[in-house]
Amino acid sequence: MPLDIVVGTQWGDEGKGRIVDLLAAQADAVARYSGGDNAGHTVTVGRQVFKLHLIPSGITHPHTQVFIGNGVVINPVTLLNEIERLQQAGIEVHPRRLFISFAAHMITAGHLALDRAQEAARGRAKIGTTLRGIGPAYTDKVARRGLRLELVGDEGRLVTALQEHFANVNELLQKLYGEEPLDADLLVEEYLGYARAIRPYIADVSALLNEALGKGKRVLAEGAQGTLLDLDHGTYPFVTSSNPTAPGALLGLGLGAACVDRVIGVTKAYQTRVGAGPFPTEVFDQTAEHLRGSGAHPWDEFGTTTGRPRRVGWLDLVLLRYAIRVNGVSELALTKLDILSGLDEIKVCVAYRTGEQLHTIPPWGAAQLESYQPQYRSLPGWSEEIRSCRRWEELPSNARQYVRCIEESCQVPVKRISVGPERGDVIELS
Ligand code: IMP
Repeated sequence: MPLDIVVGTQWGDEGKGRIVDLLAAQADAVARYSGGDNAGHTVTVGRQVFKLHLIPSGITHPHTQVFIGNGVVINPVTLLNEIERLQQAGIEVHPRRLFISFAAHMITAGHLALDRAQEAARGRAKIGTTLRGIGPAYTDKVARRGLRLELVGDEGRLVTALQEHFANVNELLQKLYGEEPLDADLLVEEYLGYARAIRPYIADVSALLNEALGKGKRVLAEGAQGTLLDLDHGTYPFVTSSNPTAPGALLGLGLGAACVDRVIGVTKAYQTRVGAGPFPTEVFDQTAEHLRGSGAHPWDEFGTTTGRPRRVGWLDLVLLRYAIRVNGVSELALTKLDILSGLDEIKVCVAYRTGEQLHTIPPWGAAQLESYQPQYRSLPGWSEEIRSCRRWEELPSNARQYVRCIEESCQVPVKRISVGPERGDVIELS
């Protein structure tokens, strides 16, 4: 039963969309399993650039069915906009192609208001969330007062649940954060409308995917965010509120562990982060400008969801080895290698130091990581443009040395290298 899981090994934005897009060509189904519209995947097909936040990027392949699992939190406004924009671009999105789990939870304007109020109340200790209501929606799920999408099939129960939800939000906004209440009656009507619009897409995703796998169909689980943002395994508390790691795919889609074939860890050739939290290899000099770009190109390091400039730095092999461990990564996909072209020297972090002590695994908490000094290995750069390279032998020898250094340090093969923004700008390795 072949399930492939594509997982980010860093703080998100590793270019998973590209790799999913590539693998989706051979998949029958592509499924999102965690997070919400805090994610942003950019897929370039010819001249069309799609920025998708909820719908799996596999939708751009005409033959694939796409699924949104129970582990996802769904803002219906984003979802409906995305469906409309894809349809306008001539891509088929209908209830026999897009299936949304009845056990996924809904994000409302109440969750957005709470996210904003909570971040403001945190002051300097803020997490730097995407303000998409993700944390508050998962909080409601765990507190067992969430808006599970099964409710859209029963308007009586849905209205009661929405009324209770907005009453609860307003109590928190007023009493805890001193904010104005939301217009609950208006919002109940509004969300009832959204529920009606998404009802045709609601399905038993776990049953459908298990059935597909049982028939030998290939399913691709599309991760959002990344390992270091995982609620349990990331740099807590500077994390998201779900489990983007590979085991989260099983939980978030209702699948058993026996169906996993490959776990494909996607890693950028350098490191980026948006939001607050430790980042040992962060750089601020000319190298930072080189890595980030000016913002003029879609591949420059500015958030797909928020437009925020991303923090940038050298590849951290300590964190990559850690990500490989907690995900059970079986192969790596290295993205954006072309961005390193033109640098005289390329550094990789191979260990950390505190005083006399050398560390080859990360510490227990984000606070300690702040004080860990990265120990670098320096590698020679290359000046050649590599976007037209399609075979391993065509890469400059220093670029090959860089890739080999990653493989040796991680003991996992690099099977794909993306060298440019277009769909075909990839080197496949056997
Ligand atoms: P939240 O997921 O909006 O609650 O944000 C929590 C943290 O995760 C913040 O640091 C965000 O910047 C970060 N984050 C959430 N989604 C993404 C993503 O798709 N890419 C990169 N960072 C993300």
